[in-house]
Amino acid sequence: RLLSVVLSGGSGSRLWPLSRQAFPKPFMKLGDSTLLQQAIERGQACGTGDLMVVTNKDHQFLTKDVLRQMSDPPSATFLLEPRGRNTAPAIALAALQCERQFSGDTVMLVLSADHLVPDVEAFVASASEAFRLAQEGALVLFGISPTAPDTGFGYVEVERVSRASQLAKRFVEKPDLATAQEYLATGRYYWNSGMFCFTASAIVSALERHAPDVMNAARHALDTAQTKDNAISFDLHAFGLQPDISIDYAVMEHADNVRVVPARFAWSDVGSWPAVASAQPSDSSGNTFPDDHVVAVDTTGTHIQIESHGPKIVAALGLHDLVIVDTPDALLVAHKNSAQQVKKVVDILKARK
Ligand code: GDD
Ligand code: MG
Repeated sequence: RLLSVVLSGGSGSRLWPLSRQAFPKPFMKLGDSTLLQQAIERGQACGTGDLMVVTNKDHQFLTKDVLRQMSDPPSATFLLEPRGRNTAPAIALAALQCERQFSGDTVMLVLSADHLVPDVEAFVASASEAFRLAQEGALVLFGISPTAPDTGFGYVEVERVSRASQLAKRFVEKPDLATAQEYLATGRYYWNSGMFCFTASAIVSALERHAPDVMNAARHALDTAQTKDNAISFDLHAFGLQPDISIDYAVMEHADNVRVVPARFAWSDVGSWPAVASAQPSDSSGNTFPDDHVVAVDTTGTHIQIESHGPKIVAALGLHDLVIVDTPDALLVAHKNSAQQVKKVVDILKARK
């Protein structure tokens, strides 16, 4: 039995003003559908019949809307968090619920709700190898061949980056720039994609061994939760007793049965506006205009996205490497080189409230 577990918890503040607390990245449309819908369909393409979505209770209706709009929605269970406690508690709760609802030998394909994987077929090929290894008891992570010393990712060391799956030797979450540069030069490191695959019982025993506090708190949170239809809501107090820790720090850094399946698919965590732009078709001057109301003259490498209500013509003259994102109540104008700093704007706005 195969189960998709979609983690949909972050707020993606680097994509302000489109992605915010009330409307985070998974609900952003990229191409024809939202990133969340694409994640669900990616799981379905791999043959997972059932779905579990772990998300904040404030987003349950947006999430259910996404499923309702799908032509062939999977049968879903919702784990509704009163607040974010990072990925280790979210995965622990999903694994315990999976054991109760299905079985311990169910293979869980853990996907992020806010990643872009354009080639679903290539993903399915990597996933089938992951399923095989997971059934043997491994904790599988999908490794991405790194293209830059990015400090926003986890790095996994193997014998040699190749096409074959390998045992992970070492896991380092978000190293500093100098360390990331060193890793890249060795040709022995993958980026952790943040997508995983394991049986429910394998991850439960790894959590029990390496993060017993996470496991105990998750058991307590599930025992005190309320179930209504297919939604499980956690008690605020019980949920708050869980440590705030990611699965990477809690388990992946310590476990000795982590296997890396190299991604044969293109992948982006669309973590910034330049990343959103490069995930879209561009015109011959490298511009990306998702809607056709933009008139551009002598403009290159610029992303213009208008999310207003009625149609609005935008004219660009002599712009180079800019990001312009307009929403009904906020407008961003940034140079692509500074777009990583959008988070600072969000912090300033938060401090003003
Ligand atoms: N339900 C739920 N609850 N989901 C969560 C929570 C939570 O409290 N916290 C994070 N998530 C979800 C996010 O929505 C996202 O889909 C995924 O878990 C990863 O969380 P991020 O906050 O985006 O993590 P990160 O980007 O800093 O780092 C992780 O992903 C990188 C790849 O994108 C790590 O796994 C890195 O090692 C990895 O390289
Ligand atoms: Mg992320």
